[in-house]
Amino acid sequence: MVMAAGEGKRMNSKHSKVVQKAAGKPLVCWVADTLREAGALEQVYIVGFRQEEVRAVLGEDVAFVLQEQQLGTGHAVLQAAPFLEGRNGCTIILPGDAPMITPETLRAAIDMFSRDEYGAVVVSAQAPDPTGYGRLVRDAEGNVVRIVEERDASDEEKKIREINSSIYCFRTPLLLSALGRIDAKNSQKEYYLTDTIEILIHDGHKVGSYLTDFDETRGVNDRVELEATGKLLNQRICKRHMRAGVQIIDMERTWIDPIAVIGRDTTIYPGTIIRGETVIAEDCIIGPDSHLDGAIIGEGTEIFQSTAIDCTIGKFCQIGPFSHIRPKSVLGSNITIGAYVEIKNSKMGDFSRARHLTYVGDSKVGRNVNFGCGTVTCNYDGQDKTTCIIGDNVFIGGNSNLISPVHLHDNSYVAAGSTITEDVPELGLAIARTHQVIKENWVAQKNRLRSSDLIPPDRFRGYKGTPTDHMHKEE
Ligand code: UD1
Ligand code: CA
Repeated sequence: MVMAAGEGKRMNSKHSKVVQKAAGKPLVCWVADTLREAGALEQVYIVGFRQEEVRAVLGEDVAFVLQEQQLGTGHAVLQAAPFLEGRNGCTIILPGDAPMITPETLRAAIDMFSRDEYGAVVVSAQAPDPTGYGRLVRDAEGNVVRIVEERDASDEEKKIREINSSIYCFRTPLLLSALGRIDAKNSQKEYYLTDTIEILIHDGHKVGSYLTDFDETRGVNDRVELEATGKLLNQRICKRHMRAGVQIIDMERTWIDPIAVIGRDTTIYPGTIIRGETVIAEDCIIGPDSHLDGAIIGEGTEIFQSTAIDCTIGKFCQIGPFSHIRPKSVLGSNITIGAYVEIKNSKMGDFSRARHLTYVGDSKVGRNVNFGCGTVTCNYDGQDKTTCIIGDNVFIGGNSNLISPVHLHDNSYVAAGSTITEDVPELGLAIARTHQVIKENWVAQKNRLRSSDLIPPDRFRGYKGTPTDHMHKEE
């Protein structure tokens, strides 16, 4: 059971705290995935504040219970009583704002709970700085006697460094019985789930604690904690990849979403952000400063200072610097895409090249095509998107406009500076530019006719050898 109804006031956001992302995944989804990995068969989420957001990120596989007013963690769990009644096993309760707990720790805590006659087991940790957390108060023999919240703690209790992670295993009937008896007599006037511990002990039940690493228990209450936790989760992801053979040069400056897949011997340089369902094959070089989101990258491809979103790039391609590969682009192998080249919703065959300043949109490009510097597929007439088809081995000279729909057939040529409005036949050359005209001495004549156009000589004071000097002298 996961408590996810709170507003998270300290986050200072319009959104529910538990849908805020740490390392690319909503906080509450970290909890859900960990539970799934730990083997939870059924998950119940208590939702309230902006419940539609929480339901949307969690999907259909889990159950929801509404807590209309957020009257505290004890009140939250009480709303799920109908789910628990008549059950005799163990209920595991987690907060929706603590994303770092691992399946191993959850299983170990459940193991501990199952080995003995515990009424409850609390997962705890020694915090370097326990400020803000509930503390485990123990008696002289070291037995847990109760949990006290920071705000209700005495100065002596505030010195306790063992904190409540808010993760518990409860014997279900005992939980229900204790929940029925908690009150809101505390500084926050809330129904605290933590009060059930004291009640169980008072009833003569045994309460244990399972001590784990503080990092695993970190709760996220504000954006400073969100940043710190996000970094730690990202490091966990980076280390997983490094152990699997990916070379990450600097994991402090590399961000990898949890679902990304990266092949062995791929190197990731700093400043790289790999998001969404990106899949990178082996032996690639990604970065520095590249941004991939939902990109499928073939083996041996290098992506240098570039962006690739929802696209497929084949093997042994060279991308960048400053290339932008946009959604629905499918590039073959051995392709070169260079500086200030944008590709959108286009297919491109093996060995084709667009090395500089080119836009390819809504196009089908064959193999071994050369885009000269400054080629533009003009795919939009202000109303409709149109397609440009370019066959194999087509050579397009620099600064050409291909006004689509247009078809450049296999092995055709386009002269530099052309504006292509009609299809070019196979093996043909298209020259679509006006003939150059030379007017001898035209500039000198113009200057004589309109002396007002001349640059006044004082503009050139101190200058030597400006190209127009001789004109002024002649005058
Ligand atoms: C809680 C614990 C504290 C523990 C800390 C660990 C209590 C009283 N305190 O404090 O001992 O050290 O977690 O992180 O339980 N929620 C609801 N409904 C509510 C109130 C909260 O669903 O009415 C949910 C929140 O969305 C959140 C979780 O419960 O996911 C914890 O609530 P929060 O207010 O963050 O509790 P803490 O003050 O951190
Ligand atoms: Ca919290």
